[in-house]
Amino acid sequence: MKIFVDSANEHEILRWFREGVVDGITTNPTIMLKDGMSDIESGVKRLCELVGERPVSIEVTSNDATEMLIQARTFSSWARNLVIKIPIVNEFGESSLRVINQLANEGIAVNVTAILSFNQAILATKAGATYVSIFVGRIADEGGDPNLVVRNVRQWLDEWDYSVQIIIGSIRAVLDIQNAALAGAHIITVPPQFFPKMIDHKYSRDTVRQFNRDAEKVLQSCAVGGIVREAK
Ligand code: E4P
Repeated sequence: MKIFVDSANEHEILRWFREGVVDGITTNPTIMLKDGMSDIESGVKRLCELVGERPVSIEVTSNDATEMLIQARTFSSWARNLVIKIPIVNEFGESSLRVINQLANEGIAVNVTAILSFNQAILATKAGATYVSIFVGRIADEGGDPNLVVRNVRQWLDEWDYSVQIIIGSIRAVLDIQNAALAGAHIITVPPQFFPKMIDHKYSRDTVRQFNRDAEKVLQSCAVGGIVREAK
């Protein structure tokens, strides 16, 4: 399973990239705004350089299919590892499948985003998606069972031998990460604030503290034993 960082914050991305746990980046306009990315082209190119060949997803920002296509082609010319996020529908509920299909036919990797149901994942896959981004937090917000959606999509992809990768986004708690990993995510995109919560544990600290204290005692008794032996 791969881990992406759901961020446009260079410092945070690099911090976790250097820990060896980052396989890619996802962003969206809200994340870019929050992380203070003002010049999109230079900011996105910089993110692409940071992670080498690993995929970086950026999202189109229009409701209009033609405009989506123009933006997608422009973005994808910026770097070889850019993946274009196309929402499954626009804000009026109009299908983006034609856009997804066109870009896929042009050889552009598409991350179909804002997926909240099994049906949407099926159609995004059929249209030619490279990734389907299932938003587990938002499914749960609506009273849905995100784990069931993830399990069903994964089972269906495997059954029909599709190479589409499931990205789990909209993480709201560490438990979402664990659940997604067990439900069959190929990739989980983790907001950086969750990494410290994943890695730290009170009792891991206590365990290491105990070992360090006892190691000091062992070293002290060795030193004392050595002195006593030398004195004899
Ligand atoms: C994933 O690609 C999205 O950027 C993100 O996870 C959306 O999460 P949200 O529901 O917190 O906006």
